[in-house]
Amino acid sequence: MSQNLTKPNNSFSSKPSPLYAFLFLIILCILGFYAVHYPPRNAKNARLFQQMFLSSATNYTISSYLRSLTSHPHLAGTKPSLETTHYVKTHFENLGLETHTVPFKALLSYPLHASISMHFNNGTVLSLPLNEMGIASYASLGLIQPYHAYSPSGTAQGDVVFVNYGGEDDYRALGGMGVNVSGCIVIVKKGGSLSRGAVVEIAEKKGALGVLIYAERNVSRGSFGFGVERGTVMKGVGDPLSPGWAGVEDGERLDLEDYKVLKRFPGIPSLPLSFESAQLILESLGGPLAPQQWRYSGRSKLSRVGPGQVMLNLTYQGEKRLATIHNVFAVIRGLEEPDRYVLLGNHRDAWTYGAVDPNSGTAALLDIARRYTLLMRNGWNPRRTIIFCSWDAEEFGMIGSTEWVEQNLVNLGAKAVAYLNVDCAVQGPGFFARATPQLDSLIFEVTKKVKDPDSEVGAIYDKWTTVNGVSNIERLSEVDSDFAPFLQHAGVPSVDIYYGRDFPVYHTAFDSFNWMINYADPFFWRHVAVAGVWGLLGLHLADDPVLPLNYLSYAEQLMEHKDTLSSFLDANVSLTPLATSIQELASAAKRVNDEAKSLMEQEFPGDVLALKMRALNDRLMLAERGFLDRDGIKGREWFRHLIYGPRSNHESKLVFFPGISDAIAESVKMSKSDGQAAIQHETWRVARAIQRAAAALEGELTC
Ligand SMILES: *[C@@H]1O[C@H](CO)[C@@H](O)[C@H](O)[C@H]1NC(C)=O
Ligand SMILES: *[C@@H]1O[C@H](CO)[C@@H](O)[C@H](O)[C@H]1NC(C)=O
Ligand SMILES: *[C@@H]1O[C@H](CO)[C@@H](O)[C@H](O)[C@H]1NC(C)=O
Ligand SMILES: *[C@@H]1O[C@H](CO)[C@@H](O)[C@H](O)[C@H]1NC(C)=O
Ligand SMILES: *[C@@H]1O[C@H](CO)[C@@H](O)[C@H](O)[C@H]1NC(C)=O
Ligand SMILES: *[C@@H]1O[C@H](CO)[C@@H](O)[C@H](O)[C@H]1NC(C)=O
Repeated sequence: MSQNLTKPNNSFSSKPSPLYAFLFLIILCILGFYAVHYPPRNAKNARLFQQMFLSSATNYTISSYLRSLTSHPHLAGTKPSLETTHYVKTHFENLGLETHTVPFKALLSYPLHASISMHFNNGTVLSLPLNEMGIASYASLGLIQPYHAYSPSGTAQGDVVFVNYGGEDDYRALGGMGVNVSGCIVIVKKGGSLSRGAVVEIAEKKGALGVLIYAERNVSRGSFGFGVERGTVMKGVGDPLSPGWAGVEDGERLDLEDYKVLKRFPGIPSLPLSFESAQLILESLGGPLAPQQWRYSGRSKLSRVGPGQVMLNLTYQGEKRLATIHNVFAVIRGLEEPDRYVLLGNHRDAWTYGAVDPNSGTAALLDIARRYTLLMRNGWNPRRTIIFCSWDAEEFGMIGSTEWVEQNLVNLGAKAVAYLNVDCAVQGPGFFARATPQLDSLIFEVTKKVKDPDSEVGAIYDKWTTVNGVSNIERLSEVDSDFAPFLQHAGVPSVDIYYGRDFPVYHTAFDSFNWMINYADPFFWRHVAVAGVWGLLGLHLADDPVLPLNYLSYAEQLMEHKDTLSSFLDANVSLTPLATSIQELASAAKRVNDEAKSLMEQEFPGDVLALKMRALNDRLMLAERGFLDRDGIKGREWFRHLIYGPRSNHESKLVFFPGISDAIAESVKMSKSDGQAAIQHETWRVARAIQRAAAALEGELTC
């Protein structure tokens, strides 16, 4: 064969034919095209593109996206939400991105009628205002009246008792005062650590007939005391009619009366109240004096906890109906590894106008898409595929993201590198991050490169560390945004970032563009900061030759978790299995980090290096999946992650290892030895999960 190579030699050197010249030209053109469009991937280039990404930030694009997104309310499953869907889709399409809309059919819930009347002992009947201040007609504004999605329809009539935050300890305190809420309507102050659904669930267990929830927020940031907080009270996540599988058009759907569906909904009606309406009830209550710490706010008119003096008639009528929801995706195909996915996600649906929740995040997402497209015009293409995800029906219980994750479970399990979530991007001042621990180092690195929006000089990282003492990355055990299906069901490393924590117009009619520019981010520089961190995280995860996932941080965090756990246990539960498995994970993490370093230093032919790199990266990507357990968390089997996930006992202070947390809570109902055995078993399960992660990181079979 080698002689073939020498054959054309003389003809080319002596008299170049026009054909060869033509071919040569073509090759030059192709090379030139590649040089312009696919510049060699190296560290210097990567830094240039990151720099270009940061310097292409603008506040006016984000501001204009937010203005458009919030021009009208866009509750999931309603007609106006289609316009918002169209706006996001068109934005992606106009950038020239490959865009897809993926619909699902899910059971959503809307209000028809609600009323509360107060019946005083002296015969006076007072109808309680349920509207928000200054909003006479919800219909004409396209707004939905305040309600709790999936509350059953019905009337509850009875005495009223104030139960503080509605936690078990609050009911115990009431018991101490001789107050039993059975047959009563309870009124709850939102706060503490309990979700809306948990508050209703506990009240129902205590025998209450109905629940009223009001929020007491700091009104100095916008005098919106009359806002009322909407929200879902459904248990679990995803469409209740397709639990564990995707709710596609012609797919299987459970009957509405199926017990598996019914157990997702509370058995008693509930409604949200404004702070002011709540005070009308609280100031009328008889019964024992309220404890001092329940009355701490200067604005609260609470003095007695009830019951007595006044009865309530709480009436709610709602409808549950199948609605079509739409997730929108834009895809930038990876050049070298198109089958590895980095996902940036945010939900689009809002209870009202959604300026903070969630469209501050949507505006940031759309701006990252704009800026990534700019990089592409300058020759950038990611190594791995980047997917922008705009979810629908998050507010009803993470429905859009959950159905999609269920639909794509195998491909996500095999190919998803990380899921980067942003929900309420800007709520106020101060940077906050939650993540799985292998992403900590990357978050620190990236926040050192993005400018702090609230000071003249310095990076987010500087302020973050000085304000909080240490930069504190929280973990993702809560089920309060779209990372839940990715992490807790599919085992994909996840991040959730935001500016500010808690905002007074949360889920009210006042979460509007005006509130944003008056109280949260007048010039949109906090939005720019979130987009900067989010987009840079995406660039690193999509482009870094070795995935920036550091499992030493995970091992350290698990060691801390183990130490915390030991303070919850008596001596007869052994944590040795846990300690041993964490040690294994730490060794594997160290080895994989060393391997990565030496891989970068050695000389390999290009394709050999690419394969070695790919094998190493697969170990880094798959290690998180080890924490998943086929059998899931007992009683809530859909949640399969044994390190981070929801615990069923809301009182437990153990906010990781949900299976162990539950076993500790349950053990008090068992004999001492049975209780210890149950806890020990859950501990073993976690130890085995950590061993699976370590083995995935090692990447070798035990043979
Ligand atoms: C009945 O009691 C309520 C609450 O104390 C009071 O506001 C109302 O004026 C009373 N009505 C009559 C007729 O006395
Ligand atoms: C409260 O009253 C109900 C109904 O009378 C009763 O079944 C329940 O045991 C009581 N709860 C407590 C804690 O006393
Ligand atoms: C309410 O918010 C203002 C401004 O952010 C702050 O100065 C004040 O301390 C807050 N008050 C409470 C009770 O948190
Ligand atoms: C409670 O209020 C509803 C709605 O106003 C009304 O239809 C119902 O008759 C009332 N129930 C009682 C027992 O007064
Ligand atoms: C962008 O920032 C500049 C400087 O802070 C400010 O003057 C301008 O009003 C901002 N634009 C928008 C749309 O907020
Ligand atoms: C621990 O187990 C031993 C042997 O089963 C038993 O004798 C001892 O009482 C247990 N201690 C506690 C604190 O349960």
